[in-house]
Amino acid sequence: MKSSPSVLYILTATVSAEAFWVMNMKNVLITERVDPVSSPGAIAPHVHTVIGGSNFGPYATSEDLRASKCTSGPIVEDKSNYWTPTLYFQWTNRSFTSVEGTVSVKYLFNPGEAIPFPDDFRMLAGSPTSRSKNESDSTPDETFLCLNPLAQASRHSVLPALQCPGGLRSQVTFPSCWDGKNLDSDSHKVHVAFAADGKCTDPAYPVNLPQIQVEAHWDTTEFYSLTKHALNPEQPFVFSNGDATGCNFYAAFLNGWETKVLKQAIDKCTCGMYGDAKCCADAGIFTIDTTSQCRITPHVEEQVQGTLGHLPGKAFDCFSPPDD
Ligand SMILES: *[C@@H]1O[C@H](CO)[C@@H](O)[C@H](O)[C@H]1NC(C)=O
Ligand SMILES: *[C@@H]1O[C@H](CO)[C@@H](O)[C@H](O)[C@H]1NC(C)=O
Repeated sequence: MKSSPSVLYILTATVSAEAFWVMNMKNVLITERVDPVSSPGAIAPHVHTVIGGSNFGPYATSEDLRASKCTSGPIVEDKSNYWTPTLYFQWTNRSFTSVEGTVSVKYLFNPGEAIPFPDDFRMLAGSPTSRSKNESDSTPDETFLCLNPLAQASRHSVLPALQCPGGLRSQVTFPSCWDGKNLDSDSHKVHVAFAADGKCTDPAYPVNLPQIQVEAHWDTTEFYSLTKHALNPEQPFVFSNGDATGCNFYAAFLNGWETKVLKQAIDKCTCGMYGDAKCCADAGIFTIDTTSQCRITPHVEEQVQGTLGHLPGKAFDCFSPPDD
């Protein structure tokens, strides 16, 4: 994951947080049709690229996640999971080939103002269902960056019909104001709201949480020479939920933090001007491990990567409940 300072400027200008750190995920934990937020206990309707704690699963709770053996993220005390739909390239014959991705997660906060996420807190950001952009929505939470190592990245509200020499980044910003009561809601969205000028002034959403940004960086570069064999040569990519516009891109979060460590971090981790959290690890706030990879075996046995005749999904099935 490469970010030039100009790209960081674009990103941090969208929220008025005083401090942030970046977690470049070491690897993708799993790519599969599981989603403990939108499809608890069931096989999800589409494939997700999942990162974070190894106890990810259809019934995962915060307690389960904290007991994970490892995390694919660099901060050992964060066993949360974060996931987004997976990107595919679509051929003229309507087959799909998966695009490799890496993920980074940013935490933005005003030190001392935010509180840690409560146990079993979960949420979703982006628009998993609407088939078009809501123009009157002043806080569109998902954006796309066309990356170019030699120039400033261009920013788009939908998947750009451009060849991006540095790959394509899809990113989602989560709201940072909580209603203080509900750990989740039917839409997984309405228990939280975006801040106004960085402050949680709406009395319905008074509690300030750290703001999460999930950035999926897709290695689209190898596909540009193949666009003449693409169903849509202008914009050949499709997300696992069938979305070829980007309007339905979203990310989900399930809290697996060690609460005391997150509290320390959002009070004190202010030393990394460009988001490098190493100084916070040096100060004993959390532990960083950037080397050991973390992967799990799939819960759903099906091919989801490589070249596929159709996008995995449509089938609906249930897992057996966990033994208590
Ligand atoms: C469609 O085309 C791709 C690329 O040539 C190929 O890999 C794939 O096997 C084809 N799919 C079918 C169903 O023929
Ligand atoms: C569009 O966004 C506005 C402002 O957030 C909201 O009030 C409205 O209900 C949304 N419309 C749709 C169709 O989602």
